[in-house]
Amino acid sequence: MHGLESKRVFITGGSSGIGLCTAEALAREGAHVCLFARNKERLEAAAAHIREIAKAKGDVACFALDVADNSQVRTVMARAMVEFGVPDILINCAGRARPKVFVDISYEQFDETMKINLYGARNTIAALAPYMGKNGGHIVNVSSMAGLIGVFGYTDYCASKFGLIGFSEALRSELDGLGIGVSVLCPADTDTPGLAEENLTKPPETIAISESACLLPPEKVAQALIAGIKKKKFLIIPGTDGKVSWLAKRFCPWMVDLIMKRTINKVRAGM
Ligand SMILES: NC(=O)c1ccc[n+]([C@@H]2O[C@H](COP(=O)([O-])OP(=O)(O)OC[C@H]3O[C@@H](n4cnc5c(N)ncnc54)[C@H](OP(=O)(O)O)[C@@H]3O)[C@@H](O)[C@H]2O)c1
Repeated sequence: MHGLESKRVFITGGSSGIGLCTAEALAREGAHVCLFARNKERLEAAAAHIREIAKAKGDVACFALDVADNSQVRTVMARAMVEFGVPDILINCAGRARPKVFVDISYEQFDETMKINLYGARNTIAALAPYMGKNGGHIVNVSSMAGLIGVFGYTDYCASKFGLIGFSEALRSELDGLGIGVSVLCPADTDTPGLAEENLTKPPETIAISESACLLPPEKVAQALIAGIKKKKFLIIPGTDGKVSWLAKRFCPWMVDLIMKRTINKVRAGM
C-alpha cells in the first residue's frame, strides 16, 4: 500500500489525540476519512476540522459509537459502510488508561478497560473484516509501549494492550490470505488529552517511571502509523526512545526490571 490518496479510512477514537492527528495527516494525503467516538459534539467538531483540511479532496464523515458495545458496533458499522463505503483501512485507536495500583482497580474498571481497549478492536474487526480486503485492506490496532513492557500502575491497561498484540499477531496470519494486512502501533507516552486525564490518577511510582521517558508529539506518532501502513510493518514503534526500550526489554529484560525497581524504590524511600 504505497499512496493513501482516495483510500477509505475508518478511525475509532478519531475525535481526539492520536486518532485525530492521524485523521488530519490522512486528510492531507487525500484519503477519505470516517471518524468514530462516543461524544457526538466532540466528534462533529473533529469532523468539521478534518473537512477544513480535506477541502474538496476527500470525503469526511462521522458516526457516534461505543466500541465496547458489540451490537451497537455491528449496527453503526453496517450503516457507515452503506453511507460512506467499505473501508480500505481500519485504525482502532479508541482506548483509555486509568492508572492505579491493582488493589485499587475495581472489577468494573478492569472489565471496562478490557471491553474498550481489547474487545473494542475485536468488535470493529468482526463487523468490518468480512467486507474488507477485495482491493487489499489494512488494519492497525493501537496498543502501547505498555503492551510490550509491564509497567507499575497499569495492570488492567497492560492486560488489554498485551492482549491486543497477541490478538493482532494471530489475526495477521489468518487475514494474510484474504489480502488484509495487520499492524500494531506501540507508542510511549504521547502528549494528548487522553494522557492529561491519565496523569490525574497515576500513583507516584508511575509518575516517576513516566518522567524518565520522552514525551512524544501526537503528530510524530501519526506519521509513524502512516509510514507503518505504507511499509506494511507489523510492529510500529514511534520514536528512538521507544525502539531502544523495546530492544532493551527483548534482549536485556533484567536491565529494564532493575531500572524500574530502582525508580520505584527511590519514590518509596522518599514517601
Ligand atoms: N497518549 C498516550 O500516551 C498513549 C500512549 C500509548 C498508547 N495510547 C493509546 O492510543 C489511543 C489513543 O489515545 P489518546 O491519548 O489519543 O487518547 P484521547 O486523546 O483520550 O482520545 C481517545 C479517543 O478514543 C475515543 N474513545 C474512548 N473510549 C471510546 C469508546 N468506548 N468507544 C468509542 N470511542 C472511544 C475518545 O472519544 P469519546 O470519549 O468521545 O468516546 C477519543 O476520540 C488509545 O488506545 C491509547 O490507549 C496512548
